[in-house]
Amino acid sequence: MPYVGLTGIFPKYWARTGTVVSLQERVNDCFMRSLNGKPLPMDSAEMNGILAYIAWLSWGTPTGMEVEGRGVRKLPPPETPPDPVRGKELFASICSACHGPDGAGQKGGDGFYTIPPLWGGASFNIAAGMARLNTAAAFVKHNMPLGRSGLLDDRDAYDIASYFTAQPRPDFPLKHLDWPKGGKPADARY
Ligand code: HEC
Repeated sequence: MPYVGLTGIFPKYWARTGTVVSLQERVNDCFMRSLNGKPLPMDSAEMNGILAYIAWLSWGTPTGMEVEGRGVRKLPPPETPPDPVRGKELFASICSACHGPDGAGQKGGDGFYTIPPLWGGASFNIAAGMARLNTAAAFVKHNMPLGRSGLLDDRDAYDIASYFTAQPRPDFPLKHLDWPKGGKPADARY
């Protein structure tokens, strides 16, 4: 999910908000949803640092150009309904060594996560892209297990994603504001 080229792609219309969103607003969406945290002040040193880093990575990429690998690569829709029971077994044998049997992830000695939680109180919230079945399955198929991507077929990825996306995770208080003009994806959780 590279940052390369984003400086030339934003501002961009975003169906989720029904508005043209700036790169700052898009960054804050990640803080509020994927990290279940608070937005950064728009003119803060941290926000400017992130924008400067993305701009540096985007140097030389033509404005508006889609970079290979941007976003989460899609998967074709599942051929049969995903099976969370099979997904739970696969999770236990392939994923839990890193993400933990309870999906809680792992922290290093400095207290920072080295392996992100996939559900529970410290997880991304219900409004994150990763809480949606298709996005989660596509990410898992192409990127997990870490260092061994390509191990899972599409059915495995859908089954595992149908298991962990259905586990409890923080709510998003502003979720009623999403998709005000339509365009809600079929796998949205609310
Ligand atoms: C070798 C350890 C390891 C294994 C095994 C592993 N993961 Fe991961 N996983 C990671 C790490 C580390 C990250 C964070 C990657 C990053 O930030 O670039 C991650 C990230 C993720 C994310 C994104 C989380 C977020 O907050 O966006 C998901 C979803 C995920 N893994 C699911 C799985 C699933 C499902 C499996 C089993 C098929 C699996 N992982 C196996 C180490 C692992």
